[in-house]
Amino acid sequence: TLLIFFFCVCVCMCVSFPSQNVRVDPNSLSFEMWKQIPVPFYMSVYLFHVLNSEEVMKGEKPSLQERGPYVYREYREKRNITFNDNDTVSFLEYRTFVFQPQMSHGLETDYIVMPNILVLVSSVMMEHRPMSMKLLMSLSFSMFGQRAFMNRTVGEIMWGYRDPLIDLLNKYFPNMLPFKDKFGLFSQLNDSNSGLFTVFTGVKDFSKIHLVDKWNGKSKLNFWNSDQCNMINGTAGQMWAPFMTPEYNLQFYSPEACRSLSFEYEKSGEFKGIPTYRFVAPNTIFANGSVYPPNEGFCPCLKSGIQNMSSCQLSAPLFLSQPHFYNADPELVESVIGLHPSKEEHSLFLEVHPVSQRTPPEREGVPGHVVLGRALPAR
Ligand SMILES: *[C@@H]1O[C@H](CO)[C@@H](O)[C@H](O)[C@H]1NC(C)=O
Ligand SMILES: *[C@@H]1O[C@H](CO)[C@@H](O)[C@H](O)[C@H]1NC(C)=O
Ligand SMILES: *[C@@H]1O[C@H](CO)[C@@H](O)[C@H](O)[C@H]1NC(C)=O
Ligand SMILES: *[C@@H]1O[C@H](CO)[C@@H](O)[C@H](O)[C@H]1NC(C)=O
Ligand SMILES: *[C@@H]1O[C@H](CO)[C@@H](O)[C@H](O)[C@H]1NC(C)=O
Ligand SMILES: *[C@@H]1O[C@H](CO)[C@@H](O)[C@H](O)[C@H]1NC(C)=O
Ligand SMILES: *[C@@H]1O[C@H](CO)[C@@H](O)[C@H](O)[C@H]1NC(C)=O
Repeated sequence: TLLIFFFCVCVCMCVSFPSQNVRVDPNSLSFEMWKQIPVPFYMSVYLFHVLNSEEVMKGEKPSLQERGPYVYREYREKRNITFNDNDTVSFLEYRTFVFQPQMSHGLETDYIVMPNILVLVSSVMMEHRPMSMKLLMSLSFSMFGQRAFMNRTVGEIMWGYRDPLIDLLNKYFPNMLPFKDKFGLFSQLNDSNSGLFTVFTGVKDFSKIHLVDKWNGKSKLNFWNSDQCNMINGTAGQMWAPFMTPEYNLQFYSPEACRSLSFEYEKSGEFKGIPTYRFVAPNTIFANGSVYPPNEGFCPCLKSGIQNMSSCQLSAPLFLSQPHFYNADPELVESVIGLHPSKEEHSLFLEVHPVSQRTPPEREGVPGHVVLGRALPAR
């Protein structure tokens, strides 16, 4: 299996901490800010255009060109907010995305040549099916003119397109595809929620403020093979307890990555005059189990630096990496032409405002930055 890295998502989070009344309390001043964080979030998406798709079919190395960013303003709103009587609050956070042409480099109507994910995923999923099904599948590929590469617009790739192959697959292989009509990388994302979070309000016990108690009603995950990997640690990723110090272990649960992540303090800085602490992902974030044993629970793994996402993506052959395979096995970077991992551009980091009681409420907020790249397997 050859891994072709072909898209990378970068979510910029802007986190604002009200100075007083940081507790989550419906009567507090900051409740409205907690409910709908008043600072803009942006999601920047970079896609990799394959320059030599014909040659790749003959066995040449793929040559990639990064396109983008395609920038979306992300609106988040907590709904179904229920205060429980045990110092916790449950909510669903909904996200909507609106394209920002003036911040983007390119338009949603740009054409991009990239691996045909629908064909790749169906082929991989057919691996252990009977021969007759494989034949039917390859027949339908040729019938609908499906090829290993597709030339589609950014809007179609991201938000979905209709395809006769989808209808056929849903008819003959029901439940194989997790969607009914449109297929796209983010076709289910707009207007969806990130799961039912139950977090501590900090009203009775301040030390637990913002920490996640449960996600979708469970206090641990069941995607992975070890208790350590299945732990739901830290907050929901937007707010942490105030009065942070560099020793703080910045932990959060990311429903997108299906796991908890733990960032380390790197340095202090400034954003528009506001002091910030920068926390970065450790080198071992997506290391495989032989390189970093605590990650064994995320395996079966391949080379180090990419995380197998099958168990939380309905068995689809999906892998998560940092952009450009940053901090991954060099063989992955060298398997294609056009990737140049660098710490400055591709490391994952979050910038937070280590609140002090004297800072006035900051409406503008501080941008954090979570960059998640993804890799998909190709054959
Ligand atoms: C959220 O609220 C809506 C109506 O207010 C309700 O229909 C829905 O079932 C609720 N969802 C959850 C997960 O509680
Ligand atoms: C608090 O109450 C909610 C709702 O009843 C429940 O789901 C959650 O598990 C409880 N959490 C704790 C820490 O007791
Ligand atoms: C997401 O949905 C909102 C309304 O629900 C719509 O205005 C917006 O254009 C949609 N975004 C995309 C990228 O389709
Ligand atoms: C992709 O399709 C568009 C529209 O049909 C076309 O203009 C463009 O040249 C195609 N790109 C490639 C590389 O085939
Ligand atoms: C969760 O936190 C515990 C204790 O800090 C740690 O041992 C474990 O590795 C963490 N799990 C994840 C997935 O980060
Ligand atoms: C883990 O990663 C290393 C370095 O990329 C690699 O040599 C090793 O084969 C990988 N282990 C597994 C089980 O794939
Ligand atoms: C990824 O993990 C799944 C189980 O969750 C496993 O069946 C699959 O073989 C793994 N993929 C690779 C390429 O190791």
